[in-house]
Amino acid sequence: MPELSAASRRQLLTSLTGGAIASTTLAALYPLARFFSPPARQCAAPIGNVARDNQGNEIRVHKLLAGSPCSEALKRVLVQNGRPGEGSPVYLVSNDCRLADYAISAVCPHQGCVVPWNSESQIFSCPCHSSRFDPEGRLLKGPAKQSLALLAVRVQDDRVLLLPRQGNR
Ligand code: FES
Repeated sequence: MPELSAASRRQLLTSLTGGAIASTTLAALYPLARFFSPPARQCAAPIGNVARDNQGNEIRVHKLLAGSPCSEALKRVLVQNGRPGEGSPVYLVSNDCRLADYAISAVCPHQGCVVPWNSESQIFSCPCHSSRFDPEGRLLKGPAKQSLALLAVRVQDDRVLLLPRQGNR
């Protein structure tokens, strides 16, 4: 077996050490590079939850808007903002033909009870301490001190995305 000269050994050790340092540095920098430059698909996806029913099934817009002709009164449909147990209840607003670009939180801002919609009286009425809200969730009567929160609605691939809304009201 031929022996390496001292110069060749030094060159080999230098190459191996340089390679080890370079690979360690790249491995350490990779997460940082991913953080500042996420994949394009991740950038394009809006941050929000998919609206679901109580069983966790995604709400499909074509089923939600199955009515024809359009109804005069806007309907409120209670859905989950995310998976059951993780999200909060939210009302989608539609007239059977079109989905509004906002949704109304069903969580009472007083102490967090779920506020039912009464379609006959066209009012949200909290069962816990009787706060009342108009059909758009605006506060009519306390003890709550705020209106029901609004969320933004986007339709994507027949699914309903619920997103934080800029300038809530
Ligand atoms: Fe709704 Fe108190 S929790 S009024």
